[in-house]
Amino acid sequence: MSEKCSAANKGIFCAAVRANKQLGQRFYRLGLEFSGAGAEVFANFKPGQFVELDVSGTALPPAEAIPEDLVDVSGRKVLLRRPFSFCDVTAKKNKTFVEILYCVVGPATLRMTTLAAGDSVSIIGPLGNGFWVPESKKRALLVVGGMGAGPLEHLAKVFTADYPDMEVIAFAGAKTVKELPFEARLDEISQQLGFSLGEFAKYGIESLVATDDGSAGFAGLVTDCLSEWLGKSDLAGENMIIYGCGPEQMLAQVAEIAKDKKIDCQVSMERMMACGIGVCQSCAVECRVAGSNETVYKLCCEDGPVFESREVVF
Ligand SMILES: Cc1cc2nc3c(=O)[nH]c(=O)nc-3n(C[C@H](O)[C@H](O)[C@H](O)COP(=O)(O)OP(=O)(O)OC[C@H]3O[C@@H](n4cnc5c(N)ncnc54)[C@H](O)[C@@H]3O)c2cc1C
Ligand code: FES
Repeated sequence: MSEKCSAANKGIFCAAVRANKQLGQRFYRLGLEFSGAGAEVFANFKPGQFVELDVSGTALPPAEAIPEDLVDVSGRKVLLRRPFSFCDVTAKKNKTFVEILYCVVGPATLRMTTLAAGDSVSIIGPLGNGFWVPESKKRALLVVGGMGAGPLEHLAKVFTADYPDMEVIAFAGAKTVKELPFEARLDEISQQLGFSLGEFAKYGIESLVATDDGSAGFAGLVTDCLSEWLGKSDLAGENMIIYGCGPEQMLAQVAEIAKDKKIDCQVSMERMMACGIGVCQSCAVECRVAGSNETVYKLCCEDGPVFESREVVF
């Protein structure tokens, strides 16, 4: 993890569905199992890397289970694979178990809700470059916006296992408490500012929750919560690192804060991805060229999705 990690052994693999648990109105955790060559390859999957999932042959849920705002798009054919990160990876003996935290937003994710134990799914991966950990950092701040939770939950696990001396704190934000993709009891979250989210607490990591409407935790943007927290921090910027995953607007603000406080920062950029393997050029990210005023376009799927924030033109 100290080096940038790439998708050296990517391939097409078949995964068996173990569970598909609904967390909230729109959130699910899909548990998958790889055996054989897939188990070996995905045992080394890095936080922030992603896979392309094929759900073209997966059934839609019954009409009454389709949210009203998705009725019109639900019938659309899902020809292209869809990109997803893993929120958990566990290698045991000759199997690798992974989980995808997903939000139902359109025809593919709607179909994913009908996957059940025993089904199998075709997966291309591992793809892209994940997060990396530069030497000499003492504190890592994980900044989650909405569905950005998955890869940072995975990163939290890696920190606990491989970097026991790193102090890690998670900041999780969403518009409202109902849009926080966690299993914690929402009434408990809303009563406490420094509520410890179970998904991070299980790795011994403290978490702070922020909601735009004040329905849980800090009332305001997660980036305001981060700024306020940093204002009280005693550690020099060079000893810290920020990892961000969430909507682009949030990442842009995280990048600003990091620049202002002279903290290294990595962001996982989300782009619409048609192929996921560098062929279609649909996922371009404008990046600065070091030491010049020029910019170049890099591919989110191949060069990212994780970039140093100072590199990205938001
Ligand atoms: C590298 C990467 C990792 C991802 N990891 C996860 C994850 O762990 N969990 C998860 O729930 N989702 C993740 N996504 C987003 C996920 O791929 C989309 O939600 C999914 O493709 C939607 O498919 P759909 O057919 O259900 O909806 P679509 O009809 O394809 O999309 C519905 C709406 O969602 C928005 N949208 C879809 N894809 C993206 C995108 N890539 N960036 C910004 N907006 C988008 C668009 O506004 C679109 O109109 C990831 C995306 C990328 C690029
Ligand atoms: S998604 Fe096709 S080139 Fe990146």
